Amino acid sequence: MDSLGFQPKDESFATRAIHAGQDPDGFSYGPVVCPLYTTTTFKQDAPGQHRGYEYGRSGNPTRNTLEAVLASLDNASHGLCFASGLGATAAINELLQKGDHIVSGDDVYGGTNRYFRKVATNHGVDITFVDTTNVEEITKAIKPNTKMVWLESPTNPMMKITDIPRVSEAIKKTKDDVILVVDNTFLTPYFQRPLKYGADIVVYSLTKYMNGHSDVIMGAITTNRADLFERLQFVQNAAGIVPSPFDCFLVLRSLKTLSVRMDAHMRNAFAVAKHLENHSLVEKVLFPGSESHPQHKLAKSLWSGVSGMISFYLKGGLEESSKFLSSLKVFTLAESLGGYESLAEVPSIMTHASVPPESRKLLGITDNLIRLSVGLESPQCLIADLDQALAAAHSSKIVNGVDANSKK
Ligand SMILES: Cc1ncc(COP(=O)(O)O)c(C=O)c1O
Repeated sequence: MDSLGFQPKDESFATRAIHAGQDPDGFSYGPVVCPLYTTTTFKQDAPGQHRGYEYGRSGNPTRNTLEAVLASLDNASHGLCFASGLGATAAINELLQKGDHIVSGDDVYGGTNRYFRKVATNHGVDITFVDTTNVEEITKAIKPNTKMVWLESPTNPMMKITDIPRVSEAIKKTKDDVILVVDNTFLTPYFQRPLKYGADIVVYSLTKYMNGHSDVIMGAITTNRADLFERLQFVQNAAGIVPSPFDCFLVLRSLKTLSVRMDAHMRNAFAVAKHLENHSLVEKVLFPGSESHPQHKLAKSLWSGVSGMISFYLKGGLEESSKFLSSLKVFTLAESLGGYESLAEVPSIMTHASVPPESRKLLGITDNLIRLSVGLESPQCLIADLDQALAAAHSSKIVNGVDANSKK
């Protein structure tokens, strides 16, 4: 696909996804696929003398290979995998102590928001939620005890974009020991490199695009900071937040096709977003790839593409949203995103139900906001499915002078 005005792609990305850390000569018998080591423990040659591995929680060759690939994809010096995306979030929060303060984006994943409000605060950590698209809001929220700024870009589900280079510069000028964490789940390192823009830690739910086959729950971090890596590696082992070797094997397999999948998600998302923008039963589309997105230019200046995430307001309320979602036949009504199959959901009562109602209202997460994860099916089938479900949602209704039934 033509770059459509986005930043040039990293030429060697696909090669690194396939080969980094996976030289067949690095394993016994020269396999071209990294072996799956299910063993929980490793024979020692003498007490305390092991051959690099002693116990599966502290290290496993399949997991360590995946960690090397993840680091390579972000051009990072270190990568670590965790049992889930939220497991990675929990590990990062272990960097903080009682009395510390976090500034978080106001539109982060609902589970991250819940972790901050209901777990981190129990440990005596204080949180302020701000709109991270506004650099001044972030710097104003930084206090003497602020230790971390946490953001997602684009945000979920409102698709707001943060200028990470500007934010990281402003944070470091305000207080240079603040750790900037960026959740890059929506774009993956194929489309955005937060470390290059000054982030200290990048966090992923590998469950989403990185694995992409909807069959693994896993999280990861990448970083160039040896001090943070050492502390997080200690937590990974000491708190036991590790994924299974089998799941690591699956993610290693999936990363080999990441670039191909992301290009196809982007192509399909463009087709779907364009169609929805011209649909009479759609109020507004939030898609950073679209010129109608208020920060489209910023997206093009920072990213090398967009993923398959689209949010849109359909005309109506919860009744129409529910009817729409229940009528879909190719899209599946389900939480999650980033798999090869298309998913649809209503964040207000699904993924973001744990966000307090006042915050949802302020953000615009209303009952007619639908979030789509556009998968890899034929775009014609996806568009036809959306059309029939939108019509079904408004059946026997005239909306803005349009008879929805006539569009079937
Ligand atoms: C942006 C984002 N970050 C983190 C998570 C948490 O990841 P996991 O479900 O793997 O724990 C999710 C899950 O939906 C997410 O969408």
